Amino acid sequence: MSQNIDNSSQSGNIQETIKDLYVSRYEAGATEESPEESRTEMAANVITKIIAHFDQQDAEDMYIADLAAGPASVEREIFKVIQKGEIRYASEADFNKLYAAIGRVHFYTYDIAGDPKDPQFMDMAQILDINHTVGDLTTCELPAQQFDLVISNLGVDLIPERDLALRNALQSAKPDAEFIFHFHHRQIAKNIIEQGGMTNDCMDAMNYINESNHYFSDIESIRVYLQNLGFDVHFLFVGVETVEDPRVHNGPLDRWWIIKAKKSLR
Ligand SMILES: C[S@@+](CC[C@H](N)C(=O)[O-])C[C@H]1O[C@@H](n2cnc3c(N)ncnc32)[C@H](O)[C@@H]1O
Repeated sequence: MSQNIDNSSQSGNIQETIKDLYVSRYEAGATEESPEESRTEMAANVITKIIAHFDQQDAEDMYIADLAAGPASVEREIFKVIQKGEIRYASEADFNKLYAAIGRVHFYTYDIAGDPKDPQFMDMAQILDINHTVGDLTTCELPAQQFDLVISNLGVDLIPERDLALRNALQSAKPDAEFIFHFHHRQIAKNIIEQGGMTNDCMDAMNYINESNHYFSDIESIRVYLQNLGFDVHFLFVGVETVEDPRVHNGPLDRWWIIKAKKSLR
């Protein structure tokens, strides 16, 4: 059973509201729109995948897509690791492999609102080879069979017509590509509503997401939803924020679903 918000004019309005909200946040200088633990966990997983990719004999360059990437929030975490020479993400030998992979990994970030232009982004875009596209993932066609790894940190599942974005993601991936998604837990919409303090438009959008059960509340429904779209899910877990984010809630902790999948072979 699909939990997608239907393709109505209401979802179109909600999409506009979501876009406006993030445009204003990024114009005000926000460099991320997600809990730190979710971002750093995603960054650590990407680093592990890069190291594994280049451990293969005769490995070709690696192409990574980050969907609904905001202002390249996850890439900023990866860049911090590389800049500080942090080896807590990997052994020293593995860190050296990561370092050696720079120049052979190519990031393609997509977002309807995020258009980073800050000097920090410009520096890291050059070093990490980040290619950013401003676009709606439900209407812009991603390059076909291009990516070895497709990620989205609390991004693609927010999109009102997320089926379209996820099908777009599927066709953009190489046959043996890996997908790593963090999806919002249903509780997050409730927390945000309880917190209040939003404009009327944002409140409408959040009520819509909440009442239409757009976010997931259990593992099985995510597995079935993604399987129906053509993903083969091999890892599903719930992530928890350990430090409360006062912007989002003052009650229960944020939670998100950690999902790893491949293209199904059917
Ligand atoms: C919760 S933020 C997460 C941003 C980023 N991944 C991070 O970790 O900070 C959700 C993002 O989804 C983007 N978004 C919403 N609808 C979109 C669409 N149709 N196409 C592309 N991006 C979209 C928003 O602009 C926003 O940047």
